[in-house]
Amino acid sequence: MNASDRTRLNQMPEWAALAKHREQLGETHLRDLFANDPGRGTGYTLQVGDLHLDYSKHLVSDETLGLLRELAAATDVFGLRDAMFRGDKINTTEDRAVLHTALRAPREAVIEVDGQNVVPEVHAVLDKMSAFSEKVRSGEWTGHTGKPIKNIVNIGIGGSDLGPAMAYEVLRSFTQRDLTVRFVSNVDGADLHEAVRDLDPAETLFIIASKTFTTIETITNATSARNWLLTELQAGQEAVAKHFVALSTNAEKVSEFGIDTANMFEFWDWVGGRYSYDSAIGLSLMIAIGPDNFREMLEGFRLVDEHFRTAPAEANAPLLLGLLGVWYGAFFDAQSHAVLPYSHYLSKFTAYLQQLDMESNGKSVDRDGNPVDWQTGPVVWGTPGTNGQHAYYQLIHQGTKVIPADFIGFAKPVDDLLPGLVAQHDLLMANFFAQTQALAFGKTPDEVRGEGVPEELVTHKTFKGNHPTTTILASELTPSVLGQLIALYEHKVFVQGAIWNIDSFDQWGVELGKVLAKRVEPALTEGADVSGLDASSKALVAKYRELRGR
Ligand code: F6P
Repeated sequence: MNASDRTRLNQMPEWAALAKHREQLGETHLRDLFANDPGRGTGYTLQVGDLHLDYSKHLVSDETLGLLRELAAATDVFGLRDAMFRGDKINTTEDRAVLHTALRAPREAVIEVDGQNVVPEVHAVLDKMSAFSEKVRSGEWTGHTGKPIKNIVNIGIGGSDLGPAMAYEVLRSFTQRDLTVRFVSNVDGADLHEAVRDLDPAETLFIIASKTFTTIETITNATSARNWLLTELQAGQEAVAKHFVALSTNAEKVSEFGIDTANMFEFWDWVGGRYSYDSAIGLSLMIAIGPDNFREMLEGFRLVDEHFRTAPAEANAPLLLGLLGVWYGAFFDAQSHAVLPYSHYLSKFTAYLQQLDMESNGKSVDRDGNPVDWQTGPVVWGTPGTNGQHAYYQLIHQGTKVIPADFIGFAKPVDDLLPGLVAQHDLLMANFFAQTQALAFGKTPDEVRGEGVPEELVTHKTFKGNHPTTTILASELTPSVLGQLIALYEHKVFVQGAIWNIDSFDQWGVELGKVLAKRVEPALTEGADVSGLDASSKALVAKYRELRGR
């Protein structure tokens, strides 16, 4: 279906049916839904690869789910999905295909962009990355002075940072522990300073990750890193080849920067930045965990790609998660979505998802450029759950907002945990199960009274419950499971964008800030013209200059 042939979302009969159903649902409590269906706890679950998904604690019935699937059919989610997998240019505002799924396609697959099969190129780059990673890991790749590389510093921002930085944390137990791997993204010099201050430049490899190779933060940090390295080594430009590699789509800019394009790992404009960490952008990760683990991660992605591509609507996990988000945004006025992992290794997982989700679906015009008058992407937030319990969970439990949340946990701790710490895993997971229970079922005033609580404290100690959660449980955190999780969220975001009829693959909203930063920068130095600035910015710049003594 063509985007322009679509009836507006909130004028579709399927939308009206959902609105009516929501009214009928009224204040129905999860306690009622469970009481009415004894099989709900096991029935409202899905298994996708290693991921066990429990959606029983959602404010939905069979009827709700049926109506939501009708909306998915009416908005042709699967039609757009097929177009994406086929390589059609579904990113219309940039006239690009959206083919991150090709990054994990098997060698023999054929996926064409403009009549050319892209799969051989994908595997050629993966092979080149593997060979390079092995050389670094084994010590065969040496720096300018002949020392083997011990430190890897990835310089990139947004999609060229968050993915590998997140995945490196997630898969720490799979990393070669004698390598130091750091990630620099912020143009605040403190970031690079802290990353390199204790490193031996002779043993340090910088990976400059930038799809466009024009991003000011990255190029500025890369230039400073090059200056640091050459100064510290007292070497000339010839040292760059041994200490700098680039990950980019832009060979011209890479060579302009002074990096030999033989040391460039390529990807393509049909890979969005926030969908790119399984491309060459994952080189730092591959060096850390090794090519075999990286490929295992790609297989995890592929498993969920295949699930999304082939599973029927009733059993399609990304479709289900996407629909649940649409349901809460449209009919419960949910403004945000919490992602709460019960794994320390997933500490950067939600930050990664913020870009994936919010840069994709933070849009307010539809694919034809018309303003939307329905909710689009939520604010995504969260940190590892146990820490959150002692901070912001109070608001989720007893505040006034509807905050659907994903709880992600693992049955087994990672393999190399010190034996004395393994026992703590059950306590971690006890919290995991207890929280979704408390959020769903709460505690009634009568239960509170039954505990002998004085009447004046009863309302304070009552938990309304009825807070929707998804539980995602896997046996253990492996490279494959990470790939499965990320693909699950990628496709969930896709489903929502398809329903909301927005282009989930552009990001024009970040451009204005970049342009204005360029305009403001000269005004920060004494004497530069500030006449082009608005009154507030002019006053702030004046204050800044005063505070800097300029
Ligand atoms: O400014 C946003 C953005 O374009 C992201 O979409 C992207 O991931 C990031 O900047 C970094 O871009 P690049 O990889 O081209 O340096």
